[in-house]
Amino acid sequence: MTDMLDAGERLDAKELQLLQLTRLRDTLEHAYRNVPHYRAGFDKAGVHPEDCRTLADLARFPFTTKADLRENYPFGMFAVERSEIRRIHASSGTTGRPTVVGYTEGDLDVWADAVARSIRAAGGRPGQIVHVAYGYGLFTGGLGAHYGAERLGCTVVPASGGMTARQVQLIQDFRPEIIMVTPSYMLTLLDEFERQGIDPRTTSLRTGIFGAEPWTEQMRTEIEERFAIDAVDIYGLSEVMGPGVAQECVETKDGLHIWEDHFYPEVVDPVTGEVLPDGEPGELVFTSLTKQAMPVIRYRTRDLTRLLPGSARPAFRRMEKITGRSDDMVILRGVNLFPTQIEEIVLRTPGVAPHFQLRLTREGRLDALTVRAEARADATAEERSAAAVIIARAVKDGVGVSVGVEIVDPETLERSVGKIKRIVDERPRTGVSAS
Ligand code: DLL
Repeated sequence: MTDMLDAGERLDAKELQLLQLTRLRDTLEHAYRNVPHYRAGFDKAGVHPEDCRTLADLARFPFTTKADLRENYPFGMFAVERSEIRRIHASSGTTGRPTVVGYTEGDLDVWADAVARSIRAAGGRPGQIVHVAYGYGLFTGGLGAHYGAERLGCTVVPASGGMTARQVQLIQDFRPEIIMVTPSYMLTLLDEFERQGIDPRTTSLRTGIFGAEPWTEQMRTEIEERFAIDAVDIYGLSEVMGPGVAQECVETKDGLHIWEDHFYPEVVDPVTGEVLPDGEPGELVFTSLTKQAMPVIRYRTRDLTRLLPGSARPAFRRMEKITGRSDDMVILRGVNLFPTQIEEIVLRTPGVAPHFQLRLTREGRLDALTVRAEARADATAEERSAAAVIIARAVKDGVGVSVGVEIVDPETLERSVGKIKRIVDERPRTGVSAS
């Protein structure tokens, strides 16, 4: 295994820090010189790239948010001539303008290397077949996974999302060892295998590389057992690059190693912005170290996690599985609640399938939450009512808030073909827009 590691993965902690500092100083200089937004922001904060003498000095520089990217729509954050940009990706932009990101040829090269490194860490090897069911297009999942798998020397099946019955056929016929897909769509595929009368444990798949949305340890167990595969976590975001910013190693499955030679992580208090020591939970913030087209300085991901020491890749710190986002947190009668907390409960409740949705409504002046979970096909009426009681009690005991529970018929909740929408918000609009 170790003979397959690339040069970055072989660095020791000291070498890594030196490399990070050099790259960080270059990035700050590049951003300051070429992006008016950063120049104005640094000037306003009274800092100059030269003030960054240690990695800790980065904390003196201002944060970047999604709103900054929107305000500079479409190409205002680019640090190179437009003609140097080889590719554009964009977020779906459900709340207003999409966020646009750009890549130079060199950036695409680094991205492919990072994803190749991720697939290798997941257990993938050159010569294997990779079924990519992340969506292709403006979303970074499909193309990001695609070029990384090719870079590693794999055979890629660019299935993209959708046409679930056909995906099952392709997996049966082409016999891929690896699948890259959102965990929620993997469950949709699971249903389809069963619908077609195929035992999911008999497929050629050995490894699943799942990301683009939060998922829990319980979900890992469910997928691993029902497919007989190793399920590992891949993380990334378009603003920082796309998939392949961090990856869980198959030999330890203990959180995701951040590819710190390209992305410098900080964890901050989501309210005060203060940098927190490693081990403390908070909001993940990234600074790119090698990006040319669109360097990002202290980008607020809104993702909640904590930093842990490296394990299978000792030089790189790990991030714990993302527990939620500071902005898909539901505040219900003063209690903070994340969909992943409900997922853990649903997955350990007998009689219900791993498909659930949270419906937010308003009753008078109070918000109310109903957990809708699908019954398993073989669940009896008694098991269904017992499940409702178990879930309601577990949410009350574990999260500290009362919720309604509806056990709905099998296969009646909307299925995911990409990132699943866990929260259906039916509360009347108050005029405050989420961003
Ligand atoms: O979702 C990139 C990606 C594609 C990552 C495929 C992994 C696999 P965006 O569409 O910009 O990019 O969404 C980024 O998705 O800030 C997280 O909130 C969430 N996310 C991504 N990966 C994970 C993960 C892609 N492994 C946003 N666990 C991020 C939890 C994740 N959340």
